[in-house]
Amino acid sequence: MVLIIGSSLLAGKFAGTPLSVPWNPPKFPSALRYTWTCFGLHPLLLGGVALENTMSLTQLRASGAATPLPRVTSGTLLQKKIAGQPITALTAYDYPTARLVDEAGIDMILVGDSLGMAVLGYENTLPVTMDEMLHHTRAVARALRRAFLVADMPYGSYHSSALEATRNAVRFIKDAGAQAVKIEGGTARADLVRRLTDAEVPVVGHIGLTPQSVHSMGGYRVQGKTLDAIDRLSADAHALEDAGAIAIVLEGIPRELAASITAHSGIPTIGIGAGPDCDGQILVFHDLFNLTFAPHAKFARQYADAAAFFSTALEQYRNDVARHNFPSDAESYHLPREVQSALAATRPQARKA
Ligand code: KIV
Repeated sequence: MVLIIGSSLLAGKFAGTPLSVPWNPPKFPSALRYTWTCFGLHPLLLGGVALENTMSLTQLRASGAATPLPRVTSGTLLQKKIAGQPITALTAYDYPTARLVDEAGIDMILVGDSLGMAVLGYENTLPVTMDEMLHHTRAVARALRRAFLVADMPYGSYHSSALEATRNAVRFIKDAGAQAVKIEGGTARADLVRRLTDAEVPVVGHIGLTPQSVHSMGGYRVQGKTLDAIDRLSADAHALEDAGAIAIVLEGIPRELAASITAHSGIPTIGIGAGPDCDGQILVFHDLFNLTFAPHAKFARQYADAAAFFSTALEQYRNDVARHNFPSDAESYHLPREVQSALAATRPQARKA
């Protein structure tokens, strides 16, 4: 049996009228279904299809490119806020997981700089580079057919000058296929948000617990717990909206503050550790699947234990190889019968399969 895992990777985020861009699951010819499940078998492999036809991910990718889907836009996200329909968002960092997230009908995919911890093994998000973010954003962009793609601007890429920030932001749109960039900070970033918006780069703001400020915050702490902090964060949200941000991530703030910011905001709020009253929720993919190798924050609900799933499969694979149970004869290629006969006749010393 061949197991194909099209799956994943951090601890660290309302019903109404139908929208004009509804989510309909894509329809593909049954033999070419784009239906990897996180913990399942690809249907092409279930019937023992010849390996030559199923060896390449490229073929599977090509088969998924059939039906164009209406793309989620910043307008869709705003419509959802207005209609009181929750916006669903998740991070992704690579082609297969992005494809699964997109196919699941998630509205917004963020190539977060959480990439640093979730995928690259860094201690925090600070070392993540533009090149790393672009590389992963491209991979995710190649997988998406419907979701709105946001790329995180890494620490240092928008801090030294507005010109450099604009150049870097444009790269995410022009070279990597993102539809928006995300930057951390509130009032202090308002001028930059205005400038990027003028350069046709849609911007998602990010306030509250902003991981790129880990040192200035003195660690990862819930923000906005005093009256002064509440006023500051509320002013930050207004400043970002006034500057033209299309949405704001609210991270690690009390539910009551997130609810108030959301109620007073004309743009969608997407919460992570900010309670249920935001316009949408985002989580880190690897948190959802217990793939962080770390204790998880209380808001990071685990929907599956992929670590256990992978470990069990890996142990089976190791044992199968060690016990000569993999591959089987049926999983091997064979010489044509006539070549086998000729081989036996002319080279009897050749080892028989
Ligand atoms: O980098 C990231 O994943 C994020 C989310 C936690 C919002 O910024």
